[in-house]
Amino acid sequence: MKRNGMCPICYLKRIFVKSRPSSVKPSYEDYQNGVAATPPMGWSSWNTFRNRINEDMIYEMALALKQQGLDEAGYRYINLDDNWQSSERDDEGNLIGDRETFPSGIPALTDKINALGLKLGAYTSNGTLTCEDLPASLGRERQDAYTLAQWGIEYFKYDFCHNLRISSYAPLIYSISISRGGKSTEYTVQNARLSGLARYMTDKKLPNGRYASGLDKRYGTLSYDNIEVEEDGEYVLTINIKKHGQYEKYLIANVNGKEYEIFFPPQKHHNVTGRFQTVVTLKAGKNSVELYNPITSGADSEMYQYRRMGMALKEGAERVAKERGESVKPILFSICEWGFGKPYNWGAKAGNQWRTTPDIRPWWWWIKMIYNHNVKLYKYSGVGHYNDPDMLEVGNGKLSYNQNVSHFSLWCMMNAPLILGNDLRTMSEQVKAIVTNKNLIAINQDPLCKQAKRVKKGGVDALARPLADGRVALALFNKTSRKRNAKFDLKRLVEDEYVGLKPQTEYTLVEQWSGERLASNGKIAVSLEKCQTKVYIIE
Ligand code: GLA
Repeated sequence: MKRNGMCPICYLKRIFVKSRPSSVKPSYEDYQNGVAATPPMGWSSWNTFRNRINEDMIYEMALALKQQGLDEAGYRYINLDDNWQSSERDDEGNLIGDRETFPSGIPALTDKINALGLKLGAYTSNGTLTCEDLPASLGRERQDAYTLAQWGIEYFKYDFCHNLRISSYAPLIYSISISRGGKSTEYTVQNARLSGLARYMTDKKLPNGRYASGLDKRYGTLSYDNIEVEEDGEYVLTINIKKHGQYEKYLIANVNGKEYEIFFPPQKHHNVTGRFQTVVTLKAGKNSVELYNPITSGADSEMYQYRRMGMALKEGAERVAKERGESVKPILFSICEWGFGKPYNWGAKAGNQWRTTPDIRPWWWWIKMIYNHNVKLYKYSGVGHYNDPDMLEVGNGKLSYNQNVSHFSLWCMMNAPLILGNDLRTMSEQVKAIVTNKNLIAINQDPLCKQAKRVKKGGVDALARPLADGRVALALFNKTSRKRNAKFDLKRLVEDEYVGLKPQTEYTLVEQWSGERLASNGKIAVSLEKCQTKVYIIE
């Protein structure tokens, strides 16, 4: 780490600062946009079609979804993944659909999809470009979110390619000013309270001869408690800095508890000082402004960037509703950073769901690997906020019947978004029967929204989740490639607080794929084909 103007002793001391609050376990409220009370269900273009998409086939897929009765089973979203957009923005800098493959434009497609009673989803990346190197939204969050809202997009997947990490350095500040309508008040750092490793430093070339350093990486904070204004309203907050260092810097201005981001480019030194601004809301009377850089890791950077987009989507949807005098059409926010920054720690504060792993493929060993990671994260899933083990591969590749059944069963048990990735126009009856299985979908869509916990691990895993009506769903998953006889004692589910099966002397277990009924006094013995999963509701 660069010293970045820190006092030499502070620079040494920082090694011993262990108690900095971590922003990846933030105290923010959960992200609430009024959608996804149960996991979303739909279809996405990526798994089968990659970059071979166009407006006609997307519409055909929506028609097929309806014709196959998938909408009745609960599938509602038709999601454009990468490659829907032109490599060029329009003259106002707005995203536009690919001029060749989506010539009618995205709003026209939304209308057609909505006319079928379905919702359209779109995609970009939390980077300078998407994974297919097309325009993306980092730094243009508000503009793009507003465009998507104007188009009537109702699901937005935000990828992580071409991401640029937020700097963990803070600028060297000598004063701040609050201005409005030509009237400005300057507050030098001498008026502020310093905490942590923030220190006053001397520089005779500065107007007030002093600046504050040590605001990097949550090491220190500069606080003004007495910013007084006469009226409520929006004011310009200017951060006056001593130029230093050819690298980017970043600052949060926390104004009465609300965080505003301010970006500082690498600094050239033609002048000693520079000024950077944002607009903040102040209230009549005393206000508090705290300045710090909270970025201590890549995960922190991601959380701030994904939250920025999540907030922009909410604002965009609200703005469009207000302009049109309509009710708000919320946009489901799907975070896709492949599990890199442990998004289960912060995803619920930023969006509705977060990918937990790298991309799924229609390979059985890979699907098991994804399951094996995602299943451990059961505690983080809940109403409106889901672990996303990626879109379904049911019906793709060379997956066998049992593998397709297991894949679907596990995703249902794990409270996962059910986003199909196969060609709905040519789907076999067998695949259709799997993805429309009402019993399994009912488990996935259970309003309690508890992800199944793995209660037994082995050649056959046992997963259980409590349901809203007090019953329990139990899945037995044969991970091996040979037939297995599995024994399981329901007592485990009674003893497990998370599952909370009610103790009874007699249980009836109803298998949800076959309808087979099993009476038991607590112990069960089940035979499973290779790769097979049986899912029981315990009554
Ligand atoms: C990433 C995502 C995929 C898909 C592609 C599109 O790899 O994880 O799900 O969206 O980008 O380019």
